[in-house]
Amino acid sequence: MTDFTGNHILSVNQLDRDAIAKIFETANMMLPYAQRKKRTHVLDGAILGNMFFEASTRTRVSFGSAFNLLGGFVRETTGMSSSALAKGESLYDTARVLSSYADVIAMRHPQSGSVKEFSEGSMVPVINGGDGANEHPTQALLDLYTIEKELTASLQTIDKMHIAMVGDLKHGRTVHSLSKLLAQYKNITFSLISPKALAMPDEIVSVLENAGHKVIITDSIEGNVDADILYLTRIQEERFTSQEEADLYRGQFRLNQQIYTKHCKSNTVIMHPLPRDSRSDANELDTDLNLNPNLAIFRQVENGVLIRMALFALTLGVSDQVSKHESDVHWFSRK
Ligand code: NCD
Repeated sequence: MTDFTGNHILSVNQLDRDAIAKIFETANMMLPYAQRKKRTHVLDGAILGNMFFEASTRTRVSFGSAFNLLGGFVRETTGMSSSALAKGESLYDTARVLSSYADVIAMRHPQSGSVKEFSEGSMVPVINGGDGANEHPTQALLDLYTIEKELTASLQTIDKMHIAMVGDLKHGRTVHSLSKLLAQYKNITFSLISPKALAMPDEIVSVLENAGHKVIITDSIEGNVDADILYLTRIQEERFTSQEEADLYRGQFRLNQQIYTKHCKSNTVIMHPLPRDSRSDANELDTDLNLNPNLAIFRQVENGVLIRMALFALTLGVSDQVSKHESDVHWFSRK
């Protein structure tokens, strides 16, 4: 995929290395606008349909802000119960209707495959904001963009790196999509650390092994997190059949500064797609890490806006016109 204009972004399987490079190059260009050094109005008059039929804070607001930063308007719906889907409307009909109100749609839904089904009824590009436990392509792109930036800063490369992924690897769509993107690089070591019942799906492990990567599957942090990148995830309690079952796993893997000092390298980069579960029985990423310079979680959030701006500019065919529509920022800005 090299021409993004008018196309849906549903799965990372659509993106080869050239496509990824194009997205990252476009994201780099977005920095002055995201930092409020300049404004751009390139999408003045365009409308984003920001359709979130499942809980979300940062992904939804990040898509919305990214579109606003390009000068566009945002129409939003949140939750299933307040939508026509609760009245039995098909995804196809909902898509036909909503796409007549918007120029591009960002969509999240609890069922695997739902965003693809929705896209078949849409007359405008649809970007997958997460479909059940299946995929989360924009998160994977911002994670990969962050990994590249963090490693480049310490003169390392994605090829030959060691990444440890920890937590609910069965239901975590962010680790599914990120693994598939990373499979395109060379000689990576993956430590996949989870309770046995929450292991990475076999299909994804096979993708990694068939691409020649080394995969270690374990339920122990000890000896496995002296990695270049340590990517933690939340137990996805909304995907379990009961809360009791989810509670069995909450709090099994925790990271705090003491564990970091004992088991990680001095420059292991700590990542998490957020939200981190900070309730005391989970506390998966302790706040005592907030002062650790290798904690990249808030840099991931900032990079997410750049990536989503890039995807809007590319799918709407304006990536080469962004700076032609510039103006000054006239208000106070701390960024
Ligand atoms: C993730 C998601 O929704 O899959 N959050 C996000 O989009 N940043 C991870 C999670 O909810 O645990």
